[in-house]
Amino acid sequence: MHGQSGPRVDVHLPPDVLAQSLRDDVRHGLDRAPRELPPKWFYDERGCDLFDEITRLPEYYPTRREREILAREAAAIVRLTGADTLVELGSGTSEKTRLLLDAMTAAGALRRIVAFDVSEPTIRLAVTALAREYPGTEVHGVVGDFDHHLGLLPTGGRRLVAFLGSTIGNLRPAQRKRFLADAASQMAPGESFLLGTDLVKDAARLEAAYDDAAGVTAAFNRNVLTVLNRELGADFDVTQFDHSARFDAAEEWIELGLRSRKAQTVHIPDPGLTIELAAGETVVTEISAKFRRRSVEAELAGAGLRPAEWWTDEGGDFGLSLSFAG
Ligand code: SAH
Ligand code: AVI
Repeated sequence: MHGQSGPRVDVHLPPDVLAQSLRDDVRHGLDRAPRELPPKWFYDERGCDLFDEITRLPEYYPTRREREILAREAAAIVRLTGADTLVELGSGTSEKTRLLLDAMTAAGALRRIVAFDVSEPTIRLAVTALAREYPGTEVHGVVGDFDHHLGLLPTGGRRLVAFLGSTIGNLRPAQRKRFLADAASQMAPGESFLLGTDLVKDAARLEAAYDDAAGVTAAFNRNVLTVLNRELGADFDVTQFDHSARFDAAEEWIELGLRSRKAQTVHIPDPGLTIELAAGETVVTEISAKFRRRSVEAELAGAGLRPAEWWTDEGGDFGLSLSFAG
């Protein structure tokens, strides 16, 4: 879409490519032990709504803590970066991002917004709202996957690339390393990278954040099976899986899984797969790594970025770092 019809949206993941990628992930992830699905498949329209609900849960502190930091530091971030373009990766609804956009507007700096996400409906909704709320600003949506399309981000202007919410924690270490290298390699000297990272803390608090009393995270987790049923004609009985969320203290990550309540057979016609799940067997659906300042800065530096600032919320729950390319 372009011009008259609304903000521009580049779609690098048209429905047929997306469907093929889901089939590949299912074939590679479910037909082996331990079974695993990549978390990007959580985010159909219902999944995006459930995630939004998660961000408002009393147990799920990361969104509130990151918002607290952004509210306090947005003006400094704008001053330090000199950015006129905000590029947001895994943007979702871009709700907290408005704190940065408002600070850029107040400084007379905002020229362009780029929102990048794997979910096309989410991007279309977000860019429509952003174009309405920031008139006179060029708004550009990109539908793509962190693993494949970071090299296709629009260039030009002085960009601040924001990756908020600790979504980086949902990438496995090797994937995270590649992600940081890809992001850094397409940034020009002087451009900046703002990264949100949830920090290591007490296991009980972490586990409560991923296993809330209202059961919203459980519904979000199970929704991935509904996606497989709808998109691939699978016959998962969603009621026969328990939500699990466990902090792995050695890896320092939360592991989300769906535990089979009984021995069961599931058919997935489109890649033609039959899987036999044992009672108690778990399909891993997400990791959510928790970070420490030292390792975040080492990983940024390893990707060729220069760490410059580190902020946390008052309670020290969440870290926001600013680094520069070149
Ligand atoms: N940044 C927002 C949303 C976080 S939810 C916040 O801080 O609240 C994670 C977002 O990342 C979702 O919108 C999801 O669609 C997107 N996402 C997940 N995996 C992705 C991938 N592989 N490539 C691109 N976007 C992805
Ligand atoms: C998007 N991401 C950072 C969330 C997290 O905390 O890892 C996804 C999530 N999964 C369960 N609850 C929230």
